[in-house]
Amino acid sequence: MSGVVPRQLEPGTDARGVVVRVISPRDSITELTALLHRAYARQVELGLRPLAARQDDATTQRRVSSGECFVAELRPGGAGVGSMPGLGRLVGVIILNEREPDAGPAWFTRAGVCSFSQFAVDPGEQRLGVGRRLLEKVEQRAAQQGNAELALSMAEPDHQLRDYYVKRGFRIVGTWQWLYTNYVSLIMSKRLAAGEGAG
Ligand SMILES: CC(C)(COP(=O)(O)OP(=O)(O)OC[C@H]1O[C@@H](n2cnc3c(N)ncnc32)[C@H](O)[C@@H]1OP(=O)(O)O)[C@@H](O)C(=O)NCCC(=O)NCCS
Repeated sequence: MSGVVPRQLEPGTDARGVVVRVISPRDSITELTALLHRAYARQVELGLRPLAARQDDATTQRRVSSGECFVAELRPGGAGVGSMPGLGRLVGVIILNEREPDAGPAWFTRAGVCSFSQFAVDPGEQRLGVGRRLLEKVEQRAAQQGNAELALSMAEPDHQLRDYYVKRGFRIVGTWQWLYTNYVSLIMSKRLAAGEGAG
């Protein structure tokens, strides 16, 4: 029998070594800004000007501090329980309940509705389920907080992205023109399953 004791991994670490967790002061804002620029480059190629494609570090810092921010960190070999955040590579991010400095859609302020924003996965890590896990995390948190709906704002011309959300149970509830963009945004929302927040 081998005497090797298997290392206890951080709960929620997947087989590839990706853990989804709350952002930490140890995480690099510069790394996160660069990830956002890479992830939103496809929308820039479509002629769109999303904030996340061009925001500076100070804006990233303000945004992640204004809500509840979760990151996906890739640690080859996995993240051990109690190990320091920030030792791996950030591959995804999402913010729940970001407080925007600009006026937003009325839907976001309805009772029982919360929203997420700045959702991105590094292009080299996309289509591997990282986005699904980040979405599940905010859905779970939103339900735990007693919300009935989880909403988002997305660039209307990005039809691939609209299909992505429709496939995940979101429906279109309106449109909005943010001051800082050159496109109309779709406001989408999803009913949260009763009891989703349990556990
Ligand atoms: C949206 C985004 C976060 C999804 O992250 P992801 O890690 O690729 O998502 P997942 O791996 O969980 O989901 C993969 C699924 O979506 C589909 N998918 C992912 N990206 C897609 C794309 N660009 N076009 C079409 N389908 C796509 C996959 O086929 C897969 O479908 P399945 O679950 O039925 O197998 C990522 O594509 C991204 O960062 N996009 C750029 C930034 C952006 O637009 N953010 C949203 C702003 S509102």
